[in-house]
Amino acid sequence: MSNFINISILGASGYVGSEMIHLCLKHPNIKIQSLSANETAGEHVSKAIPGLRDTLDLKFSKLDEMNFTNIDFIFSCLPHAELQASLHKIPETVKIIDLSADFRLKKSDDYEKWYDFKHTHPDRLSEFVYGLTEFNRDKIRSAKYIANPGCYPTSILMPLIPLLKNKVINNNNIIIDSKSGYSGAGKSKKTENIFAEVNENIKSYGIGDHRHIAEINQELSIASGYPINVFFSANLIPVNRGILSNIYLTIDANKQNEIYDCLEKSFVNENFISLLPLNEVPATREVVGSNRVSIGVKRGYKDDLLCIVSVIDNLLKGAAGQAMQNFNLMNEFNETTALTNNANIL
Ligand SMILES: NC(=O)c1ccc[n+]([C@@H]2O[C@H](COP(=O)([O-])OP(=O)(O)OC[C@H]3O[C@@H](n4cnc5c(N)ncnc54)[C@H](OP(=O)(O)O)[C@@H]3O)[C@@H](O)[C@H]2O)c1
Repeated sequence: MSNFINISILGASGYVGSEMIHLCLKHPNIKIQSLSANETAGEHVSKAIPGLRDTLDLKFSKLDEMNFTNIDFIFSCLPHAELQASLHKIPETVKIIDLSADFRLKKSDDYEKWYDFKHTHPDRLSEFVYGLTEFNRDKIRSAKYIANPGCYPTSILMPLIPLLKNKVINNNNIIIDSKSGYSGAGKSKKTENIFAEVNENIKSYGIGDHRHIAEINQELSIASGYPINVFFSANLIPVNRGILSNIYLTIDANKQNEIYDCLEKSFVNENFISLLPLNEVPATREVVGSNRVSIGVKRGYKDDLLCIVSVIDNLLKGAAGQAMQNFNLMNEFNETTALTNNANIL
């Protein structure tokens, strides 16, 4: 039997797909067999990812023309609503990690409300395990299908889940303000994403109605055992990659140390989570190029005010890196294989 797992990457010419290819090439047990793209279909991989010119000799295919007969595993980096439309063409023997939102939400009605489309496979939503690795390892290990978490949700859920689960915070007044680099929007050709619009500019979007709110509320409500409704806003800043989330909490005045201790206990054995000393806060520079989440807890000027700051690389821990972590668990490899903790910018 071959030692390799035969992989197909869908949406491989995009930003997330490109990271997925790079991670697969670093993995000793993966053989990339096929790649899909849309407008780039028919082109050599180096057309979309020039750095791979001498490393990977494959062409992108149209999704419709893909054959999955000899494929063991799919990483799907397609835009929302595309994988569910093609799900019936994928043999049941193939395991899938979907990096879009198609299978993250448990209620099919939420897709119409938050994503403006009617889900075509509501009956299959329950087959997908939510892949926030650090909190769902047992289910991920035995899963066939994974819904990989969104980028903003990953940065936000990581510190909040242990605090709600352990009842160290218990109010519903959670306000989150996140900033993201432009790769979070994908390889868009929209005018609003061209250099002259993006450079020297910061703008907010989705204030109070961003799509990721559904996923954040869903997972926080599961952790707490009661409905949580956060106030979330997102901002685009002129960098390529990285997310910084400021999470503002009003707490019981005597709970500051308990909150810090809870996070310390939750993450002490985690490879990819760093908790900074109390009152120090992280910057995206610490995590870009790595699969790390860096978390800081900062006291406010009054004892009942607290801000948690969480940073990730949106394309790695927020997408392809976490997908690789989940792949490793599903296949009984060391969870850190092909992944790094080291940020790679100055
Ligand atoms: N960017 C992030 O930070 C991030 C983080 C977490 C999750 N995600 C999710 O990951 C997925 C990919 O995001 P991305 O940022 O990599 O997007 P992207 O850069 O726009 O890439 C999209 C990919 O899908 C292909 N594609 C586009 N329309 C298609 C269609 N109708 N049918 C089949 N293939 C199509 C594109 O091919 P062509 O290039 O040939 O057109 C490309 O390969 C999305 O679901 C996104 O929400 C993104």
